[in-house]
Amino acid sequence: MDDLDHLDELMVCRLQAGPVQLTPCTIVIFGASGDLTARKLIPALYHLHVDGVLPDPVRVVGVARREKSDDAWREELSGAVRRFSRTQPVAAAGWERFARCLHYCQGDVEDPATYASLGTRLKSFGDERLARNLLFYFAVSPSQFGDVTAQLESAGLLRREEEPPFWQRVVVEKPFGHDLGSARRLNAELTRHAHEQQIFRIDHYLGKETVQNILMFRFSNAIFEQLWNRQSVDHVQITVSEQLGVGTRGGYYEEAGALRDMVQNHLLQVLALVAMEPPVSLEAESIRDEKVKLLKSIRPFPSDDVRAHVVRGQYRAGTLEGRTLPAYREEPKVDPRSNVETFVALRLLIDNWRWSGVPFYLRTGKRLPLSASEVRIQFRPTPNVLFAAQCGPRLDANALTLRLQPHEGISLRFNGKVPGASVEVRPVRMHFSYDTEFGAYTPEAYERLLLEAIEGDPTLFIRRDEVEAAWGIVDVIRNAWDGQPLADGEFYPAGSWGPGAAAALLGQSRRAWRDPQPVA
Ligand code: BG6
Repeated sequence: MDDLDHLDELMVCRLQAGPVQLTPCTIVIFGASGDLTARKLIPALYHLHVDGVLPDPVRVVGVARREKSDDAWREELSGAVRRFSRTQPVAAAGWERFARCLHYCQGDVEDPATYASLGTRLKSFGDERLARNLLFYFAVSPSQFGDVTAQLESAGLLRREEEPPFWQRVVVEKPFGHDLGSARRLNAELTRHAHEQQIFRIDHYLGKETVQNILMFRFSNAIFEQLWNRQSVDHVQITVSEQLGVGTRGGYYEEAGALRDMVQNHLLQVLALVAMEPPVSLEAESIRDEKVKLLKSIRPFPSDDVRAHVVRGQYRAGTLEGRTLPAYREEPKVDPRSNVETFVALRLLIDNWRWSGVPFYLRTGKRLPLSASEVRIQFRPTPNVLFAAQCGPRLDANALTLRLQPHEGISLRFNGKVPGASVEVRPVRMHFSYDTEFGAYTPEAYERLLLEAIEGDPTLFIRRDEVEAAWGIVDVIRNAWDGQPLADGEFYPAGSWGPGAAAALLGQSRRAWRDPQPVA
């Protein structure tokens, strides 16, 4: 082989030597009868077990109020895994092996006796590692997070000063508070009983491959990183759209709305990864430091003029792919006069050296025409000479789209000559697709996140100051909306891209949303 031949090979640079050897542990799920456990947690743990990446031995203990035997819980979960597993059919042998690790512990989370019987159950496994290496997963109401942590500490199950190699960690689901004040109180409560390093706040978007790839893509490609700034970028659009309505979650959604449900966490996290400065290292704290810095650089909305920057909407009845859909106000458990937003679009400015003057447009909503999450980096147009001078706005500016889901991939849009005798220029696209390049591989975000929590790597979890910075941003918007009923123009038909004002948010500066396109 010629000396230079190897340069064309696809060289893989491995940053970790391989799977980390995980220490035996028990995963304790509070809220064992809940939807999250059945839909996400158990299917994820089942896959990790089948793939042989969970520690050996491992136990999963479910805690919930109803009286149930281990076998009854296993039976219930077998149905859930058959229904929600990402791989079908579920192999009986694999399930049987995993089911033997599952145990049920009946008890009310408010009752100290529950923690005593949990302790007894953990000891009964007869392996100190299974009784002292503990991942507590809080799939319960946020109002119970503080109490459960306190009870775990007083029962001696959660120790702030645990001696290595033993460890205990707490994983908390969102919503993490409902505003800055409540998030701060919750943080104070949790850190009274556990160190910040023991608290793993989940944002499942960070478990998605494509979201993790933002960092890799930005900081391992010189060609793009050089353009990633105000000199080259005109603006950025982040869209997370969903076809689904609120379904059966009306009760929760009435308290949350799109701003708390999606913007405070998923959209701001994606924004932080897209816009942050390079971290000084790939250590968790360096990355999280940069994310916090970015969130803190977002220019605060003027409290008396939030409407100029933020548009809200609520879906009314409409049609989507030939189906007639009810209005949000007609959904189960929703107040028929509800003013809760199911759509938000906002324009943010980031006051730092890199992004000064570059608008970031974020939008999310339910009952939109398509389910798709993507980030579009819209580059500046060419100077107004040569082709641009003749074509004007018909000469498309370059754009790079990170397709987070579905059809995961990246597309670059640039101009080319239409073949033929006439001189015509039009945009062409270059696509990278995960499936084509790597084969179909779509592990659930929860698989990755559970594994990272067991490993003790907090990179993909939200730090205390991060969650508080994000609440600080959305609180101003929330306060401006409080007590303001929705106006007629704030409703949009189900199956459309939101209220007209969302388009006007960009239209003022002669820009336009580029809607995600269905991929054939
Ligand atoms: C959840 C929200 O956090 O994210 C839901 O509570 C939303 O309302 C969901 O539907 C979207 O997640 P994904 O992974 O389907 O984009």
